[in-house]
Amino acid sequence: MGPEVLRCEPPHFWHHEANHKQPRQDMKINTQVAIIGAGPSGLLLGALLAREGIEATVIEQRSPDYVLGRIRAGVLEQGTVGLLERAGVADRLHREGLPHDGFDLCVDGVRHRIDLARWTRGKRVTVYGQTEVTRDLMDQRQAQGWPSFYDAQEVAVHDFDSARPRVTFSVQGVQHEVQADYIAGCDGYHGVCRASVPAQALTTYERVYPFGWLGVLSRTPPVSDELIYSNHERGFALCSLRSPMLSRYYVQCSLQDKVEQWSDDAFWSELRARLDAPAAAALVTGPSIEKSIAPLRSFVAEPMRFGQLFLAGDAAHIVPPTGAKGLNLAASDVHYLSQGLIERYREGSPAGLDQYSDRCLRRVWKASRFSWWFTSLMHRFEQSELSGGPMGYRLQQAELEYLVQSEAAMTAMAENYVGLPF
Ligand code: APR
Ligand code: PHB
Repeated sequence: MGPEVLRCEPPHFWHHEANHKQPRQDMKINTQVAIIGAGPSGLLLGALLAREGIEATVIEQRSPDYVLGRIRAGVLEQGTVGLLERAGVADRLHREGLPHDGFDLCVDGVRHRIDLARWTRGKRVTVYGQTEVTRDLMDQRQAQGWPSFYDAQEVAVHDFDSARPRVTFSVQGVQHEVQADYIAGCDGYHGVCRASVPAQALTTYERVYPFGWLGVLSRTPPVSDELIYSNHERGFALCSLRSPMLSRYYVQCSLQDKVEQWSDDAFWSELRARLDAPAAAALVTGPSIEKSIAPLRSFVAEPMRFGQLFLAGDAAHIVPPTGAKGLNLAASDVHYLSQGLIERYREGSPAGLDQYSDRCLRRVWKASRFSWWFTSLMHRFEQSELSGGPMGYRLQQAELEYLVQSEAAMTAMAENYVGLPF
């Protein structure tokens, strides 16, 4: 007997919790859009499409708990919040998210406020963890019964240069084949989608920064209501938060450092040393509930479309976390992709899909520039590097002094921080 053919419509949806109910035989499924990856890009795309009656099937290699265990940045641009509203997942975000109208730059032990609302005519950002965005999208997907497969092994994409691309994978030993009109590669930097594109069809750009971020999450009241980005002789530090009782802090560290070498005490004293005196005195410390080291990288792959395969989010580009643009760029990609797909299915027009890569990349490069600039301005570089050593540090201080005194410079900073329009 050949594989069973299923049209993936309610009530025949397939969710991770229903995995065990699947018959143990090969499954063939038809869907309109196969989405690889259930990070914020994949889930948000699925939600935006579902609301327009376009059926997508999400295929994720990890378990839901694993996906929700990843701690990432937590600053949402206004455009991202708008998109989450359109996707119908902004209720908790509006209840629990913290609107921020500004942030502090700490230069040479003195804090200066960047008034986002003032320099952008009222725009602001919202502090709400990426993990929570993912959780809200996941809960919505489950409640709506939109089809998803978690714990998918050996995910592979096929025939995306033809009109009938396919995705194959197995779940608990059962082989699956999903036939789709389009594949959305939302599977992050290490995913299978970009890796499946012939190397000669891709141009990649990469810069690896010579330091990492050591991050700590702690159940302590944040040192300040607003974020503090500190440029200090000992290295960069960032004070961020998730809620009035949950703090997120980072210090620049060496790439050779191992997280086990950093005791909580060592972390707190290094952070304190990099802050201005009032913040250092106000800092409340406590046991870390998460501690990790992340490398910093800028990466862009061009183009973002190959036949019927579209890359979105970290699958196509990575920015260093200074300025928290990663999730927000994923959101603008997904906006353009959902618009293109809606146009295609509603009006039969391929125009939006044809423009997808160019539209995304214009915004991606601007956000990559901002993230690279903000990273370069705030971190200590070695003497051997072009912008490093004592001279590099003095040049940074001069630029920061100019930045906090010039309305033009603060406007440019604020405009980029709240997010360029999309
Ligand atoms: N098959 C299926 N799923 C995969 C595969 C694969 N071969 N490879 C990776 N994945 C899954 C990962 O397990 C992950 O859940 O794809 C998902 C990708 O999610 P993210 O890495 O979070 O990427 P994205 O959704 O684009 O989100 C971008 O995340 O990394 C941050 O800074 C980034 O904030 C930005 C956001
Ligand atoms: C965070 O809260 O994790 C965060 C905030 C701002 C950044 C980077 C990370 O620029």
